[in-house]
Amino acid sequence: MADDVSKHGMWSSRMLFVLAAAGSAVGLGNIWKFPYITGENGGGAFVLVYLLCIAFIGLPVMMAEILLGRAGRESPINTMRKLARASGGGNDWTAVGWMGVVAGFLILSFYAVIAGWVLHYIFLLAGGTFTGADGDFTTKTFSAFAGQTLPNIPWQELFWFTVFIAATAYIVARGVSRGLEMAVRWLMPVLFTLLIGLVVYAAIVGDFAAAWRFLFKFDASRLTADGVLEAMGHAFFTLSLGMGAIMAYGAYVPARVSVTTTAATIAVLDTVVALCAGLAIFPIVFATPGLEAGAGPALIFQSLPVAFGGLKLGALVGAVFFVLVAFAALTSAISLLEPAFAFLVERYNVKRGQVAIVAGAACWLLGVGSVVSDPFLGWVDFLTGKIMLPLGGLLIALFAGWVLAKRVVAEQLGFAEGWKWIVWSVAIRYVAPIGVVAVFAYPLVTAIHEHLHAGS
Ligand code: TRP
Repeated sequence: MADDVSKHGMWSSRMLFVLAAAGSAVGLGNIWKFPYITGENGGGAFVLVYLLCIAFIGLPVMMAEILLGRAGRESPINTMRKLARASGGGNDWTAVGWMGVVAGFLILSFYAVIAGWVLHYIFLLAGGTFTGADGDFTTKTFSAFAGQTLPNIPWQELFWFTVFIAATAYIVARGVSRGLEMAVRWLMPVLFTLLIGLVVYAAIVGDFAAAWRFLFKFDASRLTADGVLEAMGHAFFTLSLGMGAIMAYGAYVPARVSVTTTAATIAVLDTVVALCAGLAIFPIVFATPGLEAGAGPALIFQSLPVAFGGLKLGALVGAVFFVLVAFAALTSAISLLEPAFAFLVERYNVKRGQVAIVAGAACWLLGVGSVVSDPFLGWVDFLTGKIMLPLGGLLIALFAGWVLAKRVVAEQLGFAEGWKWIVWSVAIRYVAPIGVVAVFAYPLVTAIHEHLHAGS
């Protein structure tokens, strides 16, 4: 059957797909974003909601993206068109693919800014800037670098941001497996090992007990409507869901690979990395005067240098750590462009290299806005993370659960009856969609509730 391979290439093994998808999932979302939004949202309760969203919304949606991708074997836009037609749905479902392409560009535009910070920090660390540094020093260093406002042009930030965009476009241009294999096969395990080492080190020199309590002690009073939405949005963001990245990767998965097992593996890996990042950072934060959990996007850039600064060989280890984080960001960034690339290649039969220049330039232009303006960055982050990704995920769940012919789903999952089928159906038809809608509606409901109370 011609449909059994994708024209864009195929993963050479099941393992490689898991690595690539995990490479997409594990990135700045785990190491930079998870700790800082957890810090801003007061810890435990937020973490619990996040974990629930991963399990009950993220996992089913990930399975849906993989199976849709593999059933269609094309870019998300054309896959949605093809599957919707075959199942008697309308052409409107391609909108899911289009929205994903736009979301991918928007996310990459600010993702590359943060990745640029990481690149800059490699050199700061390697140069010994932070040897013996305290929280005051790391905080000041960060704002001197990234805290400038117009009309000052942050040239260094702009430079590293540009380097990262260029690297991303270059790798995507080389195609799915050639550019990617090495990065994910070798560098991700090393990153993981170093992260564990960092947790142990933080436990020795920092306040591990306080960090543990902060992350895992449930305190409902700290939960806000916005925090719940943030947790759900982040579940999509960290698993790379809701915009077709995993669907695009799913198109290159060989038949006979279990969708359930791979999705579960990726979700677990991703979650473990995020929790480790939290356990590496918060012990330092709580033991260092001048640092605070709610510091926002600057959090890891203020806390990790303190840890490395107090370590023998810290300049070296710190630089290596940030190099690995940069690679983790790169393997995520390329998945943000893959849906657009696959589509353009299908539609216009252009070369990936040609697309790279145009796509890279477009992302760069958009990202300059985020380089020079923090509010702009925050706005793009909000639009994608709290609106577009959950909405995309909702539509994907509805499509897989209600529109796609059962025969297609069953063929992809490898089961069509029994408890597995029941769990799957309930999850994708009811739990995930209702979960997303409920979280969307929650701020609204609280607002109305407060309004009524204020009136009475
Ligand atoms: N998941 C990645 C991270 O946590 C970011 C990312 C890559 C992403 N591809 C995506 C987010 C697709 C949303 C959608 O860093």
